[in-house]
Amino acid sequence: MITITVSNQRGGVGKTTTTLTLARHLAERGRRVLVIDTDSQGSVYLALGLHPQGWLHQFVNDGLSIKRVATNVHERIDIICSDRRTMRVEVSLGAATAKEMIFCSLLSCVEQRYDAVLFDVAPSISHLQSCAIAYTKNVIVPVAMDALSIEGARSSLQTIEVLNHFLRLGCRCLGFLPTMVDHRLSATELVLNALNSQSASSGIPVLRGIRTDQAVNRALRKQKFLHDFDRRSKALEDYGVACTEILRLLGHHDEQTETLPAR
Ligand SMILES: Nc1ncnc2c1ncn2[C@@H]1O[C@H](COP(=O)(O)OP(=O)(O)OP(=O)(O)O)[C@@H](O)[C@H]1O
Ligand SMILES: [Mg+2]
Repeated sequence: MITITVSNQRGGVGKTTTTLTLARHLAERGRRVLVIDTDSQGSVYLALGLHPQGWLHQFVNDGLSIKRVATNVHERIDIICSDRRTMRVEVSLGAATAKEMIFCSLLSCVEQRYDAVLFDVAPSISHLQSCAIAYTKNVIVPVAMDALSIEGARSSLQTIEVLNHFLRLGCRCLGFLPTMVDHRLSATELVLNALNSQSASSGIPVLRGIRTDQAVNRALRKQKFLHDFDRRSKALEDYGVACTEILRLLGHHDEQTETLPAR
């Protein structure tokens, strides 16, 4: 089972883009994927222009089944969407005992239906983010090419440390994923250098990164997966490489995992 939370406490670094594009890459490689959006901004349903029949708050607070709350968006991708009513979940979790383990029980039978579960989280410290990380144990941290993005990444690492310290869960950051990389901009080199230092001190690898590509914004405007908007886009290719690297880090090998293109 592949379980990943995509987290960075800085907003606008490419968390939702990464979650959806990775989900689709995994689906194209034969995996059945469940995406769970825990961001009350409703990023995922807005990004894909969905009209969900069910929502995350109904899954967590009202006990509705995955079947009733998940929206099917591709033959191998279901999504549990959030909207502002997800704030109710945050409030109810605040008073719950052992709240961090909520997805461990809610998703205990998910392995029969899915091969991968990906969480997209809000750009803030939230109970749902801790719950997502406690369930997935693996975290990918997208880092856009601005200094605050590195600060946001550090906050995500702190959340992992706190969970490991108090609950001994063995959560780990699989890698930093540079996003919106444009080597013509001086900020890009500065941030990549800072990220490499962070990587050297923490032992967390820096993945090969996603180039800035206007196709990402255009796909968002059309409310489509990048795969369905422009199959030859640079960012899509880069996410394919990232997917391969992530599968390798998780110890999942498939045919495409063996053929990382040189850059
Ligand atoms: N590789 C890329 N090239 C160009 N634009 C990108 C790229 N990746 C993401 N973007 C754009 O950056 C913006 C933020 O992306 P996204 O919504 O994925 O970030 P986020 O971290 O989920 O934001 P939030 O914290 O608000 O949830 C979007 O407009 C998206 O289209
Ligand atoms: Mg988002």
